[in-house]
Amino acid sequence: MDDYIPPIPSGVNGPRGLPFAEYPPGKLSPLPTHAIMTALTYVHMAALATYVASVVYLLLIIGPCATAIADPVEQRRFLAREFRLQNPLSIGALGFVLMTGAFQLTDVKARLGPAFFAQLGRPLVIKLTCAFLVINIATYIAFGLAHRLVRAQQGNVPVEPARQKSMLRRLVVAAWLALALVLLTVWISMEMASVLRAD
Ligand code: HEM
Repeated sequence: MDDYIPPIPSGVNGPRGLPFAEYPPGKLSPLPTHAIMTALTYVHMAALATYVASVVYLLLIIGPCATAIADPVEQRRFLAREFRLQNPLSIGALGFVLMTGAFQLTDVKARLGPAFFAQLGRPLVIKLTCAFLVINIATYIAFGLAHRLVRAQQGNVPVEPARQKSMLRRLVVAAWLALALVLLTVWISMEMASVLRAD
């Protein structure tokens, strides 16, 4: 009788029809949920650290080194070489941050049940808005600016020094903005985490 799963009544909120709180621990899912969630948190953090490292590398190494190269042709060659690794790393890492965050959300919703929106609604809305902006800026950096420089270099398109200078400036400004928004997102996430730990 231990494995008995009650039938689904109507107007309820659990996965099998009952309010989550009425399920004994371990009966919501046949999977080792806690271990999976812990692993997801670690991947969320590792991917976030990788993304931040790639942005800091852009700001502290790529930007200043490129600015120090006076010849625009040499400068573009340098940028194209650097972005071939930096770009996929940053976009890939950000993808992992988003996916692992989204996967955890289902479990958080199950844990909080009806209190989910009351307890987590405000920080979650702010966090997801910040994350949305980070994704847009990261996409602009990678595909709107860096990838265009790489493609122009590969296709031997003539260099327009003024345009390249402006692209490099926009790259650096956008990267600072992304970094500031990530820090804000981390701060909001801490608020979210303290709500979850208090639960
Ligand atoms: C740039 C984007 C993001 C950043 C910087 C970020 C940062 C963080 C940080 C620092 C934590 C750990 C808090 C702690 O345990 O002390 C965290 C946890 C979490 N994140 Fe994110 N995150 C991002 C995107 C997302 C997205 C898009 C989602 C959901 C769709 C998400 C969902 C979660 C959840 C549910 C937790 C709590 C897990 C738990 O403690 O049980 N995150 N995030």
